[in-house]
Amino acid sequence: MNKSSMKKNMNRRDFMKRGAAMVVAGSLPLSVVEVAFGKNNPQNFTFAYISDSHITHIKGNKFVRNWDRGLIRAVAETNLMDPKPDFVFYGGDIAQLGKPEEIDHGLEILSGLHAKTHYVMGEHDYYVDLGEYWQKQLGPDHYSFDHKGVHFIVLNSILTYEKWMHKKWDKGMDRMLQMARLDNPDGQPFMVGGSQREWLKNDLAKISKDTPLVVFSHSPIQKIHKGWNFWTDDAEQVQALLKPFDKVNVIYGHVHQIQYNQIGNISFHSAMATAWPWPYPSSYVQVDTYLPRLTVEMNRADPFNERDATGWQFINMANGNIDFNYLLPENKNRVVAFDSKQGKPVDKNYQEKGNRIPPQSHY
Ligand SMILES: [Fe+2]
Ligand SMILES: [Fe+2]
Repeated sequence: MNKSSMKKNMNRRDFMKRGAAMVVAGSLPLSVVEVAFGKNNPQNFTFAYISDSHITHIKGNKFVRNWDRGLIRAVAETNLMDPKPDFVFYGGDIAQLGKPEEIDHGLEILSGLHAKTHYVMGEHDYYVDLGEYWQKQLGPDHYSFDHKGVHFIVLNSILTYEKWMHKKWDKGMDRMLQMARLDNPDGQPFMVGGSQREWLKNDLAKISKDTPLVVFSHSPIQKIHKGWNFWTDDAEQVQALLKPFDKVNVIYGHVHQIQYNQIGNISFHSAMATAWPWPYPSSYVQVDTYLPRLTVEMNRADPFNERDATGWQFINMANGNIDFNYLLPENKNRVVAFDSKQGKPVDKNYQEKGNRIPPQSHY
């Protein structure tokens, strides 16, 4: 997209102000999220969100170049943001197979960020050694912090049954490969687990109910598509703990595509990946039988184009509700904003199916 057509497509004045950084962002394939709290509030702040880099080791000091480049660009973009983000959040899956080389290489690139960075663990970081190396480098896998009136919670949502994790594996990599596959009948469902839920309960006991909450998880704290683990098995129990709060937002990575919906008091938003977009699972029809219907599909012409639907996201979180703005380098930009009348995030530029670029077929 060139500079002038990109400006025409911007829906918010916020974007217009972001001059230089936006122009670069519009021409580059990356996923960065910026969050702002209102315009005239002294508490206003922004933070950036980068996710799913899947740094992949080949051998020696060689890594898959495209995935490196997605992350390098996201870091460069984040450093160009104006205003500067107060912090950066990384949404998980730094590594493809959790190897120390991959985590180190990813963290070396991320060390270029000027702002403090918080992390959540993805399943690709975890299953080779049950998170040992990740935690050695980055610390605890669940924690909370407060920032300018908002309570942020980080949950490790990609755990599974203890018995399966700790069974006798020849190599940790066998366990990793089981979890890295889609539609794998031998895979296991993700979950937050009892001890973390207990921790969350205690953490929330200290927080007043009108404090806006932002929960960061890697997998969605809801049930979308089990075969691909777009799913957290104890989602309802976690949601119940969040229910007493006025404004709750869950932001997650993992799905490598745009998703948003509302369940009770909780707004859910996904962030795009810097590595590649997943196609939509054809069995999304399954959603009808589960919790609220999942959003509307992003207008994606080509799910197998590695850069279609990786993009740049701006989140406005005035008054504790999140508005997402997606800049999609090869597609129509989108705005998903909380509609107080409908009580859920709504796509402001919803395109009827017939008006979208038809998906391509791949054989
Ligand atoms: Fe991922
Ligand atoms: Fe993931």
